[in-house]
This record gives sequence, C-alpha cells and structure tokens, in this order.
Amino acid sequence: MMEPQLKRGDVRVISTLPDEPVLVLGDRVRLEQVIINLFRNALDATKGVLKPQVEILLNSGETAVLSVRDNGEGLESLDELFEPFYTTKQPGEGVGLGLAISSGIVADLGGRLTARNGQAGGAVFEVQLPILGQDAIKTQPPTQLPASNSKVEAAE
Ligand SMILES: Nc1ncnc2c1ncn2[C@@H]1O[C@H](COP(=O)(O)OP(=O)(O)OP(=O)(O)O)[C@@H](O)[C@H]1O
Ligand SMILES: [Mg+2]
Repeated sequence: MMEPQLKRGDVRVISTLPDEPVLVLGDRVRLEQVIINLFRNALDATKGVLKPQVEILLNSGETAVLSVRDNGEGLESLDELFEPFYTTKQPGEGVGLGLAISSGIVADLGGRLTARNGQAGGAVFEVQLPILGQDAIKTQPPTQLPASNSKVEAAE
C-alpha cells in the first residue's frame, strides 16, 4: 500500500517489533488506517531531509504502544495537530483529516494518540491501546499488531 511513497525516495524504514504477538481489541481496517496515516505523515515530513528515516516500534507492557518516529521537519503546532482540517500541506497533498480521524479511532478503542517533537528533531507519534487479556480473547476475535516475523517493506 505504501510502495509508491517508498519507491519515490531513499527512506530508511526501521521496525522494531516484539517476538510475541501483541493483541488488542479493535477493527483491523481502522487500526491499519491509523498506522498508514502516521506512516504517510512521517514520509511526507522527511521529504526534504538528507537521510530520511522512519522508525516504527512496538512495545507491550501495561498497554500496547506503537511509536512512529521520523527525522523530518518536526511538528509546527502541537495545539492544532488533531483539529480537523489543520494541515500545512499544499492543496491536493493533504486535507488535514488524517490525525483527527486517527485520534477518534484510537479513542473509540479506549486508547490515546499522542504527539511530540523528538529530542534529536523530527516527530514522535504514539498510539497507546489497552492490551487484550486472555479472557476477552475467548469471546471476541482480537486484532494482532505486527510481530517481528511479519513482512515490513523497506526501501534503501
Ligand atoms: N510526522 C510529522 N512531522 C511533521 N508534521 C506532521 C507530522 N505528522 C503530521 N504533521 C502535521 O500535522 C498536520 C495534520 O496531519 P494530518 O495527518 O491530520 O493531515 P494531513 O496529512 O495534512 O492531510 P491528510 O492526512 O488528511 O491527507 C500535517 O499537515 C502536518 O503539518
Ligand atoms: Mg496525514
């Protein structure tokens, strides 16, 4: 799905995923929508940098935490970020709905979507979701976040 963007440049994609699957409760398509928007935003943000890099990390502790970090231009305005139609992109390149929709999806699943600027520059987005307990798995089919054995496309 992200192939056109990855082929366009020389973006390094690093993914750090746990060996064991992380299970969360939620609709797979909607969760994919969140991850794809964060990834696409990260790719857009690194367009102008010399060695563009996007890092995807998945951790599970008390909650499942999916982080998407880039070494792009960083976040201009943290206040407006999740507002519908807030965009710094050219007409036709973005309408400013991705993050508003994504934070709504994550909130619906009982989680949180947060953003900050990284210490070394670039943006850091974090999706926190409740981990699915074994009891709940018996009653509802879970969505599995990618584990290290799943395929991640990378372009050098
Ligand atoms: N990784 C990032 N680095 C820097 N700025 C970002 C990043 N992600 C989002 N932003 C800023 O937040 C704005 C809103 O992002 P959002 O995903 O909601 O909309 P969009 O990408 O502009 O358009 P859409 O997602 O609707 O195509 C972006 O226009 C950009 O200014
Ligand atoms: Mg977007």
